[in-house]
Amino acid sequence: MSDVVTMDKIVALSKRRGFVFPTSEIYGGLGSTYDYGPYGVALRRNVKDAWWHAMVIERDDIVGLDSAILQHPRTWEASGHLESFTDPLVDCRACGQRFRADQLEDNRCPQKPSVHPGEGPNCDLTEARQFNLMLETSLGPVRDEGSIVYLRPETAQGIFANFKNVLQTSRRKPPFGIAQIGKSFRNEITTKQFIFRTREFEQMEMEFFVPPPDAEKWFLYWLDARERWYLELGLSEDHLRLRPHDPDELSHYSTGTSDIEYLFPTGWQELEGIANRGDYDLRQHAQYSGEKLEYFDQATGERYVPYVVEPAAGVDRCMLAFLVDAYDEDEQEGEKRTVLRLHPRLAPVKAAILPLVRKDGQPELAHEVHDLLRPLMLTEYDEGGSIGRRYRRQDEIGTPWAVTIDHQSLEDRTVTVRDRDSLAQDRVAIDALPGFLQDRLTGKE
Ligand code: GAP
Repeated sequence: MSDVVTMDKIVALSKRRGFVFPTSEIYGGLGSTYDYGPYGVALRRNVKDAWWHAMVIERDDIVGLDSAILQHPRTWEASGHLESFTDPLVDCRACGQRFRADQLEDNRCPQKPSVHPGEGPNCDLTEARQFNLMLETSLGPVRDEGSIVYLRPETAQGIFANFKNVLQTSRRKPPFGIAQIGKSFRNEITTKQFIFRTREFEQMEMEFFVPPPDAEKWFLYWLDARERWYLELGLSEDHLRLRPHDPDELSHYSTGTSDIEYLFPTGWQELEGIANRGDYDLRQHAQYSGEKLEYFDQATGERYVPYVVEPAAGVDRCMLAFLVDAYDEDEQEGEKRTVLRLHPRLAPVKAAILPLVRKDGQPELAHEVHDLLRPLMLTEYDEGGSIGRRYRRQDEIGTPWAVTIDHQSLEDRTVTVRDRDSLAQDRVAIDALPGFLQDRLTGKE
C-alpha cells in the first residue's frame, strides 16, 4: 500500500473505472450493497480462481462443493446460529438510529458528529438487546411460521451437512478438506467501509477434517499456508499480521481462532479467520439429524468424529485489500499517474493491444495480435486517443502489459511490450508474443 491511498480514492477509482457500483443507484441506492462492474467481475473471478487453484486444483486432499444458499431450517438450530449468531443492539429514541452496543466508540452521533452515540445532549439509548443477524425469507406459496427459511450466514454449514455424502463419494479419509465459494448474507447492524462489511457478500471457505490429536498441527499449518497465499499474490508483508482471538471474542463453535489482519487505510482489520472448530459442528448435526457423521477407519477398526480446521475468507474483503495494496500514484513525463500495481494473475486485463495510429494498416495488424492473444488471457483492444492517454487508462485498471503496434511492426512483425511497473519497453516478435506474456504471467520470467 502506498502512503497516498485513502478509502475515498479507492471508492472513486472503483466507480470511475467500473470496478464497483452502488446497487440500485438509479433508485437512490440500497444501504451498503454493491454491484460489480466489468473490471470488478474480472478481478473477483481472478481472486476466486487463485483461491480455488491453491485449495483444490493443486492439492490431492481437498475437494470442492457448491451447496444451496437455502438450507433446511434445522441446520441453523443445529449450528447454533438461531440462538447465538447475534450482536448486541441499542436504539436511540432521539434520532431513531441503531448501533452495535459494543462498537459505540467506532460510531458518530448523527445529530452531533463530534461525539459518540450516547454522548450527545439529546441521546437516549435503549438497553442493549441481542439481535439475530440471519436474514429470513419464506419458501413456497403460503407465508406462515412453517415457511420461514434463512439465507445462509456462512457457507460452512452446507459443507458439514454434506460431510457423509462427500466422504462416501470422494474416497477421501482424514486429513481431507471440502472447499466452497459462495454468497452469504448477514443483517449487519452497521455496515461500513465500502465493500469491507456488507449484508450480501461472498465467502471462500474450506473445512479440513482431521484426526482429533492432529488438530493443533493442522491449525498452525493453515495459518502459515493462508498467510503465504496473500504474500504470493503481492500483498505487502508489512501490511499483514496474525492476531489470535482473546477467549471472550471466540465464536460459539470455536476453541481457537486467529485472524489474518490487513492494514486497511482505516487500520488493522480482519481479512480472514482461521478457526479450530473441534467436533462441534459434526456432533451437532449428528444429534439434530440422527445421522452418524463420523469416520470409520477400516484398517485400524477405529471410529471417530473428526475435528475441523477452517480457513474462511471473504472475496469482497480480499478484493478491497488487493485494490488498496496495489493503489499508487507517481509522475510520468510531468503528468500525475494513478496506477494499480496488481499482481498479473489478479489484474482484470492482462494485455492492452494498442495501434499507435488509426491508419497505415496498424489497426488491422493490431486486431490480428488481439485474436492471437484472446484465447489465452483477457485482453483489450483500444485505438481511441493519444498513446499516452491509453497507457494511463490501462495503468489505472492495473493492466500489466501494453502491446503497441507501430510502423516498424508492419515491416518486421515485431511489437513493443511496455511493462506497467518498470515502464521498460521490449521489442518482441509477434510469433513469440504469446509465450513472452505467458512466461511473465506464470512467473517463469
Ligand atoms: N465460517 C466462519 C465464518 O463465517 P467469519 O469470520 O464470520 O467466519 C469469514 O467470516 C470471512 O468472511 C471474514 O474474514 C470476512 O473476510 C468475510 N466476511 C464476514 N462477514 C462479512 C461481511 N458482512 N461483509 C463482507 N465480508 C464478510
